[in-house]
Amino acid sequence: MEKDLLIRIAYLVASVLFIVGIKMLGKTSTARKGNTLSAVAMFIAIVVTLLDSQVLSLTEIFVTILVGSAIGTIAARRVEMTSMPEMVAIFNGFGGAASVLVAASEYWRMAHDAGMSMPVVVGVTIVISVIIGSVTLTGSLVAFGKLKGLINGRAIVFSGQHAINAILFLAVLALSVLVVIDPNMEIWMVGVLLIALLLGVLTVIPIGGADMPVVISLLNSYSGIAACATGFVLNNQVLIIAGALVGASGIILTQIMCKAMNRSLTNVLLGGFGQTGGAGAAAGGGEEIVVKEVGVEESAMLFESASSVIIVPGYGMAVAQAQHVVRELTDVLERNGTSVKFAIHPVAGRMPGHMNVLLAEANIPYDKLIEMDQINDEFANTDIALIIGANDVVNPAARTNPGSPIYGMPILNADKARTVIVSKRGMSAGYAGIENELFGYPNCLMLFGDAKSTMTKVVSELKEAIPA
Ligand code: TAP
Repeated sequence: MEKDLLIRIAYLVASVLFIVGIKMLGKTSTARKGNTLSAVAMFIAIVVTLLDSQVLSLTEIFVTILVGSAIGTIAARRVEMTSMPEMVAIFNGFGGAASVLVAASEYWRMAHDAGMSMPVVVGVTIVISVIIGSVTLTGSLVAFGKLKGLINGRAIVFSGQHAINAILFLAVLALSVLVVIDPNMEIWMVGVLLIALLLGVLTVIPIGGADMPVVISLLNSYSGIAACATGFVLNNQVLIIAGALVGASGIILTQIMCKAMNRSLTNVLLGGFGQTGGAGAAAGGGEEIVVKEVGVEESAMLFESASSVIIVPGYGMAVAQAQHVVRELTDVLERNGTSVKFAIHPVAGRMPGHMNVLLAEANIPYDKLIEMDQINDEFANTDIALIIGANDVVNPAARTNPGSPIYGMPILNADKARTVIVSKRGMSAGYAGIENELFGYPNCLMLFGDAKSTMTKVVSELKEAIPA
């Protein structure tokens, strides 16, 4: 009894730490602490569960935790920022696999143990866990393969695809009912498992590689739901709570991403943009955009005389790894009395929080990072909007051109600044594959070249003009 109470208390502590941890992840300034708290919660949950169930000896528990943690640490330390979505994808897949293994083994244990019958509730949660876990596993593997370039990153579509998926879905439902009615017919469970694994592949292949971050977030949510269902199978409260947190936060993040990209989830899942890999065809009206170029020296002079600058970072800043030189630019401008802020679009870059992570890596104070809704009105009173490797998130076509694929997407009003300086290598389109009319605006100047190298030159010009 006493042991039971201790276990419940430990689970309660772990659950509270999970909840506080996830809350802290919502703010850049507390995110690291939130991550550590959640890791501590997971440690408590694993140790207590394994001790409670007496599946492994104490030594085995710590050796397995050590091996797992070592793999996780090495993977997280080695991963390039731009490859983060791949890592999240594969980890989601492992989450799904774990749920399938636990639920399936529980099924076989119950089905085989003489005299044991399977209550309907347990049967239902087992099949839910197996189905969602399997879809998560193979779906995540396909997402990983697409992002890594191991399989064709484009949308793979064939006729009758949706009908086949619908038939498989109905088949898996029918087999699930049979499993619950008669758990002793193992062949039905094998059928559920195989069809669900196939469904994972078939539902992710029609999605273009570029839409993968949304799908990964959705699969992340699935892995949580699968874990939650497994929690019901095992009657394990901490797994139910942790799974529910992952499931809910994943779906909220998916919604936020879809909204910021002006896409519906159905559109992403049925293969919209990705199918063509982002087409230039839907560009802004076909007229050639005439741009004005600006050089490094002239840019430095403009910055020197500006009293307010808003920096808009985008995917190109990540590609160029220009965040550190951007920090230097901020320092030198502030030394000159210029106010510098960063405008963060929710889907700038290629993954949620991409810009926040990069700028935090360069030690840019969190209070300088302002979200879109808070900063949009400030552009009109700003001397320079410096766009570094961003494109779609500042494309005014989202406001002005009803024919544009991004029409209606909320964007940063960088075009409203007195002067706009755009740092990018050439006139290539961004992720949406469309032209950006902003580049031809009278107040817009193009500073062509790799963001890191041009910004380094601008900073050294400024340093000469504004000594430390
Ligand atoms: P994008 O619109 O993708 O534009 C990035 C720009 O960076 C390109 O036009 C490219 O032009 C430039 N660039 C590339 N390498 C560069 C370098 N070394 N130096 C300077 N510039 C460089 O980026 P964005 O404005 O951040 O928009 C993000 C897009 O991704 C949105 O459409 C969004 O919907 C989508 N998306 C985002 C997410 C998340 S969660 N963030 C997930 C999926 C999709 P050049 O080649 O001419 O240099």
